Amino acid sequence: MDLNDIKTLYGSYLFQNYGREDLCIARGDREFIYDLEGKEYVDFVAGIAVNCLGHGHPALVKAISEQAARMIHISNLYYSREQADLGEALASIVPPPLAVSMFCNSGAEANEAALKLASKHTKRARFVTCKNSFHGRTCAALSATGQPKYQEGFEPLLSKAFDHIPFNDVEALKSSVSKTTAGLLLEVIQGEGGVIPASKEFISTARDLCDDTGALMIVDEVQTGIGRTGKWFGFQNYDVVPDIISLAKGLGGGVPIGAIVSTREIAKTFTPGSHGTTFGGNPLACAAGYATIATIRNEGLVSRAASTGAKWMADIREIGEGSKIIKDVRGMGLIIGIEMGESAKELKKFGFENGLLLNVAGGKTLRLVPPLIVSDGSISRFNDCLRDFLSRQ
Ligand SMILES: Cc1ncc(COP(=O)(O)O)c(C=O)c1O
Repeated sequence: MDLNDIKTLYGSYLFQNYGREDLCIARGDREFIYDLEGKEYVDFVAGIAVNCLGHGHPALVKAISEQAARMIHISNLYYSREQADLGEALASIVPPPLAVSMFCNSGAEANEAALKLASKHTKRARFVTCKNSFHGRTCAALSATGQPKYQEGFEPLLSKAFDHIPFNDVEALKSSVSKTTAGLLLEVIQGEGGVIPASKEFISTARDLCDDTGALMIVDEVQTGIGRTGKWFGFQNYDVVPDIISLAKGLGGGVPIGAIVSTREIAKTFTPGSHGTTFGGNPLACAAGYATIATIRNEGLVSRAASTGAKWMADIREIGEGSKIIKDVRGMGLIIGIEMGESAKELKKFGFENGLLLNVAGGKTLRLVPPLIVSDGSISRFNDCLRDFLSRQ
């Protein structure tokens, strides 16, 4: 079967709700993926900031294989050692007072849980989120998302419950949060929006306002969590601790899992029956999450993301010096955005022709979110490609 045969099957049997690249991926190895003909690509997308250990990491493969043989799913009617172990592992990497976790299956689900938890805990119904944010596609997560293009055709959603303020606008933040606000849901780096970091003032003001009004500070760490920014969690770059964080993407190293982590006091709001999911916290996903955290820790991948990312960003800035195309280079650790207007899509195409898998976020920003194990050689390949691309303009 070749790519065209597979595209025909997709056309016949699958919803057409994704705009896909002309690439069928057959397998992966570290930061490399291979198409049906065996052509190699360096993967700077990592399943959209998911495959933090790359493809086929032996520690993750072993954990998943052994767990699959033992048991995959049991429901939340019973206890499993694997769920307890992952809860303990997460508690060991979050700063206090964050302490306890609840598991689900995706980023959107994690945000749904966080919003429900904040509503029930504060007994308030209104939320503040940011324009240009992305929080997922389920009803509440989509209502929280500050990009009308995703909401088109589904209005009014829960629009009455959400105020969207301009990102990094401290004054708008101050005038939007009050004693009737249940929570503030924020990304510390808007990933889908184009890799836009929050300012320190915006995040510290958010913390202060929540303290003053009793609103809960919820940080969406779905894209920035689990080592990506050079800290375990993106908010740790900002000297604040949120009340609730949502996680997914990198947490399972590629196996679907989401989570919220909150303080012990807030977590008490959910009593048996308050919230739940059939698959959430199943032993397979939890074993993957545990192995992912243990491997990131054992291999020092958090600090490596910080140092590799800082050097890479400096290199990109140097390569782009004097270029009229590159408007901005920004990010933290191994989430890097190169804002370059329409050229971002052209660079993506040029990279593809040269064996690099790249991705554009927010329409005009090339987003680099490779596996945290990405080698220096692969980073050099991207840098050479960027140099070559710019020299042709
Ligand atoms: C910050 C953020 N929150 C939530 C989501 C939604 O996650 P999922 O696609 O797993 O539902 C994403 C996905 O890109 C995201 O980047």
